Amino acid sequence: MSASEIVVEAGANIAFIKYWGNRGSDLNLPLNPSISMTLDECRTRTRVTVLPDADADEFVLGGERPSNKSVQRLESFLRHVREISGRREPLRIESENAFPTGCGIASSASGFAALALAASTAYGLEWSRRELSRLARRGSGSAARSIFGGFVELRKGDTDEDAFAEQLADEAHWPELRDVVAVVADGEKAVSSAEGHRLAVQSEMMAGRLEAVPERARRVREAIRRRDLAMLGEASEADAVSMHAVMMTSKPPLFYWTSDTLTAINAVREMRHEGIEAWFTIDAGPNVHVLTLESHRPEVERRLRDLGWRVISDGVGGGARVVQGGAS
Ligand code: DP6
Repeated sequence: MSASEIVVEAGANIAFIKYWGNRGSDLNLPLNPSISMTLDECRTRTRVTVLPDADADEFVLGGERPSNKSVQRLESFLRHVREISGRREPLRIESENAFPTGCGIASSASGFAALALAASTAYGLEWSRRELSRLARRGSGSAARSIFGGFVELRKGDTDEDAFAEQLADEAHWPELRDVVAVVADGEKAVSSAEGHRLAVQSEMMAGRLEAVPERARRVREAIRRRDLAMLGEASEADAVSMHAVMMTSKPPLFYWTSDTLTAINAVREMRHEGIEAWFTIDAGPNVHVLTLESHRPEVERRLRDLGWRVISDGVGGGARVVQGGAS
């Protein structure tokens, strides 16, 4: 491998307190703080090669050339990295998700976290985690959190300088915690998160959500500190429902839930009724993430499979890291 070739890995993440709604610029400045755990196996691996003699960047995602829309998003991200680094050479970006295919877990968090670390390292920038988190945020808000492993909070931030993520506890803090995903649908979502963030501010529910989040975030931090799943689960369910209420009351309304989503929610409540520690959270899509412990995982998986869905389980993982290569 040449010195100008870098391979990086970063995990996706699942949020307990969701980022939904931003200040409407391409800086992705979130309206509220968000808190997540970085996933272990659902990872993106990205290879970046500096191309001194090329005229343009090259992109290969999952073995294919990405859509024009994705290329535009990637180009604008790389333009920003070049502005800060003062470097001009085009890059070749090859990226693969180590996710089970169509697992219904968003890949832009792991994708932009990996790209932020890989592109900045390839251009010789030796950045702190905080700077990398700010950079990753430009690609996708949730990517700012995937720079760190373990349990992570993305601050609200009023400016580009102060909207970055910080680690609350590392990946060794709560190794029994699991995210079991009921993949009720694995198609591409009809409305992107980027569009949803813009629409969110018009929801009449948004003011109520922004008022409730600080106390809920406090409970989530406390639950993580105490490794208290019931406390974490209750706050996570409330936050997911609050985010979806905002989505459903946006103009035009966004319904990510399907009838299967509700069936899975009811299944989780039924499990709890029977003494299985399980709580749900849902991102910008129909799939239901079940927060549970390793001791309950086999039973949670079995029940979700019995309802006819594919199931993916993951635990808490580390932060974005360079796995091959170094600065040129
Ligand atoms: C619902 O703008 O980071 O997952 O670019 O689609 O990954 P993508 O979304 P992003 O918004 C994340 C929305 C969310 C909640 C969260 O992860 O905080």
